[in-house]
Amino acid sequence: MVARVIAVDPFDLVIFGATGDLAGRKLIPAMYFRDIAGQLPEQARIIGASRRKLSDDDFQKLARDSIEHHVKQPDRAPEVVEKFLRRISYVPVDVTGEGGWTDLKDKLDEDADRIRVFYLATGPDLFGPICGQLGAHGMATPNSRVVVEKPIGKGLDSALAVNDEIGRVFAEDRVYRIDHYLGKETVQNLMALRFANALFEPVWNAAHVDHVQITVAETLGVEGRAGYYDTAGALRDMAQNHLLQLLCMTAMEPPTSLDADAVRDEKLKVLQSLKPITPQTVGERTVRGQYRAGASAGGPVGGYLDELGNPDSHTETFVALRADIANWRWAGVPFYLRTGKRLASRVSEIVVQFRPIPHSVFGGNAGPIVANQLVIRLQPDEGVRLWLMIKDPGPGGMRLQHVPLDMSFASVFNVRNPDAYERLVMDVVRGNQTLFMRRDEVEAAWAWIDPILQAWAATNEMPKPYTSGTWGPSAAIAMVERDGRTWNEDAE
Ligand code: BG6
Repeated sequence: MVARVIAVDPFDLVIFGATGDLAGRKLIPAMYFRDIAGQLPEQARIIGASRRKLSDDDFQKLARDSIEHHVKQPDRAPEVVEKFLRRISYVPVDVTGEGGWTDLKDKLDEDADRIRVFYLATGPDLFGPICGQLGAHGMATPNSRVVVEKPIGKGLDSALAVNDEIGRVFAEDRVYRIDHYLGKETVQNLMALRFANALFEPVWNAAHVDHVQITVAETLGVEGRAGYYDTAGALRDMAQNHLLQLLCMTAMEPPTSLDADAVRDEKLKVLQSLKPITPQTVGERTVRGQYRAGASAGGPVGGYLDELGNPDSHTETFVALRADIANWRWAGVPFYLRTGKRLASRVSEIVVQFRPIPHSVFGGNAGPIVANQLVIRLQPDEGVRLWLMIKDPGPGGMRLQHVPLDMSFASVFNVRNPDAYERLVMDVVRGNQTLFMRRDEVEAAWAWIDPILQAWAATNEMPKPYTSGTWGPSAAIAMVERDGRTWNEDAE
């Protein structure tokens, strides 16, 4: 099966932070794949911008390296790569000073009416200054959009300030706050599953669902990002955005349409309904951990503090949370969230655990009747698995078994699974904000996260240590066991 390609108008994509990790690892390969899929018009250009004094040739060389690293054969035919590289140029810009802005403007003004995408692949402290310069130099034309990466700020106050600075130059309908989890195929499939099937919606509520688990587990450590990561931690880096967005997509009411604001209105209501975690409840509803030396991906690995070279860091590399949504649909249904680095395996999934049957008509020989479970797997093997009870085949009495109805998207559709950034950057070019976070969503998410950060800071305790290659601190297991539940073992 061949994926459908939607034609887009000619555009200029300007990447600030062009020599950084995100540009090399995600943005350049994403644009390359869109090019070979035939989605980039002839005139589309990619312009790198950053402080380093590079020539077009130098930047094209970086882009070639990134393609060699991140694109597998047979997708790397030399003539195809060279054709892509011809789209790429570079302008040195001092984002906190004056240098380079008029050069950038001259380049963009070669076709001033064209769609412009300013992708700020930089730290959030630069979002305001860059937007300010784009405004001051008259580059924020009516056809311009700005894309900003998470985390927006370090808490509610700084998020408000960053959003204000962006908003002085770009109206909200031109601001694209990216959360790449929303671009993952399975997350969009969650909408298809819920709203294109009549089967699930009637049971998608507190009367039928016992609880929901959302796990985003990584085996990698902080790699080369310790400088950033140590100022963020798992709660800001993953929970405030990715985990809460997954929770919103699972819990929201059906939107009136897939229009950006219709979807985002519903997500916002979920965030606003989250029961605040207080200093009194933080101990039982949150667990923070930090990895120690252990084994991961088949070899010995060091601990976070050794990698960081700072024995005193209180930054968490693991977090587990119990979120409660105070509304009619979800009252009394806990949403357990967990994420961490250096865990036992790389798996991201949403588990909807249904309630047990109210009464069994089967005798003791039938075996235990396990409650139904829907597992929506984001990675590594994207797909959906519905666990049901069925009868063991053959004669010999009524014996029951718990078996999955399993759909792996890769084997059903047999297409390359595009990276989330491919879809999301093209959505920006097309002017579709549905899969991007609106300002009020980001702020509502911080409003829920801030008290947790404050309560943790007040206790001044170290995060609980966990051995690399395990499922995090035992306190995370205890958190759900206290409620009479367990984390989904299928993931583990
Ligand atoms: C990023 C975080 O947003 O998501 C990283 O900053 C994390 O710390 C990454 O590793 C995980 O994304 P994915 O797509 O690999 O699951």
